[in-house]
Amino acid sequence: MTNESTFVELFRGAAPYIRDHYGKTFVLQIGGDVIASDNFPHLIHDLALLNSLGIKLVIVFGVRPQIDALLKERSITPEYFEALRVTDEASISSVIQAVGEVKIQIEALLSMGLPNSSMAQSDIKVTSGNYVTGRPYGVVNGVDFKLTGRVRSVEKDTISKRLDTGEIVLITPLGYSSTGEIFNLSSIDVASQVAIHLNADKLIMLSLAEELEGENEEITRQLTCEQAKEKLGTAYSNNIDDTHVTALALGIKACEAGVKRVHFIDKNIEGGVLQELFTRDGIGTLLSSAPFDMARQATVSDVGGIYELLLPLQEQGILIKRSREKIEADINDYKVLVRDDTVIACAALHNYPDEKLMEIASMAVHSDYQNQSIGDMLFNYLELLASENGAKTLLVLTTQTAHWFVEKGFTETDIESLPVEKKKIYDYQRNSKALIKSLTNNEN
Ligand SMILES: CC(C)(COP(=O)(O)OP(=O)(O)OC[C@H]1O[C@@H](n2cnc3c(N)ncnc32)[C@H](O)[C@@H]1OP(=O)(O)O)[C@@H](O)C(=O)NCCC(=O)NCCS
Repeated sequence: MTNESTFVELFRGAAPYIRDHYGKTFVLQIGGDVIASDNFPHLIHDLALLNSLGIKLVIVFGVRPQIDALLKERSITPEYFEALRVTDEASISSVIQAVGEVKIQIEALLSMGLPNSSMAQSDIKVTSGNYVTGRPYGVVNGVDFKLTGRVRSVEKDTISKRLDTGEIVLITPLGYSSTGEIFNLSSIDVASQVAIHLNADKLIMLSLAEELEGENEEITRQLTCEQAKEKLGTAYSNNIDDTHVTALALGIKACEAGVKRVHFIDKNIEGGVLQELFTRDGIGTLLSSAPFDMARQATVSDVGGIYELLLPLQEQGILIKRSREKIEADINDYKVLVRDDTVIACAALHNYPDEKLMEIASMAVHSDYQNQSIGDMLFNYLELLASENGAKTLLVLTTQTAHWFVEKGFTETDIESLPVEKKKIYDYQRNSKALIKSLTNNEN
């Protein structure tokens, strides 16, 4: 494929996401280790790009390694208890200095309009202020955390107003109190609370990576809150770095409090945020309260997607030809699995009520998604629907997929035993095999 056609394909692929993300609110948490990495200027330019695409962006940053470096210069030993810093009077000045320096660094990077950079001619405005108030973390398990704090409140209206004018809101990990104290907060806690208060569309954390690996060391792409809680249990017992455990726990909390999606992105991947937000499968881990892929009844707006999915299989002779019009006319029979507005699997369930039989037809999984149990998930849904609708038998006619259905409990049957209406239209030249499965064994 030429560079030009790759570009055109990528741009077309990103277009729906550009449209979808426009006007949405994203809260992004960046740990201090990311800020210290070589990738950081690129990341900030990518964030500026998001702002120029109309995304309302809140950036919350952390400064842990920067504080530790300053404490070292001052010969102060950092004190931690269960991954949380104990901030005393001697160390708070290092916290304030580290926060100030990083804040200025981010503002400077966002102000760059270098020719030949992705942000040429851009005029990005950044705002920050006393948007978060803090309260003492207190004494926990006998440890006095002193000036380490928790989020007390978030000025959501003021932040929203700033976002509405197109500014990027930059939030430090400091919380002020009405009595004039300054508390050192966890950036993960701040980001999660800000996302909850703003009812953000996305909370993005650039920290977790290998902790969310599944089997075969592949990153787990999607998790429901329930699955994430299970992982959290394992993480505690495996003693995984507490910061990452905290990020996962606060991600779950945000998700359960109404933040629509929480993304964990490997901080080491160049352009990781753009890949996660503008490609269908992303590169990180997505946490959502409902299962990401859910089979559902198709609607007229799915006709185009179903047609696109079936067309190559029809052209290969695997499936019988069905026009757009035919799909639209039968749309009530179709079920789909949709990911980010793309139909990735579909099937029709035709009813023969006199015979208490339902036929599975036009079943297909997009080639990019085969062998990931999506066909299995869709089949289970169809089987359940058929049972719920009183069918006693499932039927499928197939030329090349008989074995897949045999493994699901189907057995071959005689064409003569098909429902009368079906027999009338059976294509003897195509010579499909007819397979049936009794559903009565499923009843208890
Ligand atoms: C058949 C189909 C729906 C299965 O969907 P899927 O999501 O890939 O399937 P799953 O992930 O649940 O199952 C994968 C298993 O099925 C097997 N399989 C896939 N296609 C098969 C076929 N035509 N015959 C037999 N087994 C098949 C795979 O080898 C894999 O086996 P393994 O687990 O032992 O490695 C999908 O491959 C497809 O769309 N095929 C083209 C259209 C088609 O044949 N439709 C059925 C006609 S009604």
